[in-house]
Amino acid sequence: MKPSIIMNWKMNPETLSEAIELSVFSDKKGFILCPPFVFLSSIKEKLKNAELGAQNSFWEKEGAFTGEISSQMLKKIGCKYIIIGHSERRKNLKEDEKDIRNKLESAININMIPIVCIGSKERNEAKELKDIKNQIKKIFSDIKLSNSNKLIVAYEPVWAISTNKKNGSASSGRIEKSVDFISKNLIELIGEKSFNQTKVIYGGSVNSENVSNFLKIKGVSGVLVGAASLNKKEIKKFSNL
Ligand code: PGA
Repeated sequence: MKPSIIMNWKMNPETLSEAIELSVFSDKKGFILCPPFVFLSSIKEKLKNAELGAQNSFWEKEGAFTGEISSQMLKKIGCKYIIIGHSERRKNLKEDEKDIRNKLESAININMIPIVCIGSKERNEAKELKDIKNQIKKIFSDIKLSNSNKLIVAYEPVWAISTNKKNGSASSGRIEKSVDFISKNLIELIGEKSFNQTKVIYGGSVNSENVSNFLKIKGVSGVLVGAASLNKKEIKKFSNL
């Protein structure tokens, strides 16, 4: 199976013309581009190979929710994926597991593919695993997945994200252990059958130099890329994966 290379542009670039240029350059099979909301429709018209994802959505279908965008709206403009619960939203917008769970439910109800970010600030391994377990429990307990639902869960240690003090990525050993732990916890809550429809991926300072090593780790089926997704030299190398 081809790995999922998810490009999270975050709040970049500034203009539509730059966004279109970047999307045309990044239009490769296996890439999932996640630009800011305002560029989604225009980018959708340009893409021939890459798929489209949003960086967030709201859990209600429609109504008096100023400033929010529903999963339905995103689906209608051709988005297939939604990033849910990114650590930057948890930190800056105070999103909690209840919000994340509501967003997850709204996405799976309309058969979109959620990319749920699970990540801890804890560098200490035992504390990190405890936090991960807790997050997974709060988000996935009693979630009803149908046979057609697909799911992506990203292991995203907060301390490994490139903008957080340049700590560098997590080590391969650490990723393997955490991904295995996440997988086992997920199986307990969603069952083997739904887990077979689930990809577990890694995110945190992924670049063209380290990506192949991450994709060799047992249990890792893709990567979530931040900073490198905006850099043309990097994108070009990613497309050879
Ligand atoms: P990074 O971002 O690749 O710049 O570390 C990853 C992320 O925040 O998803």
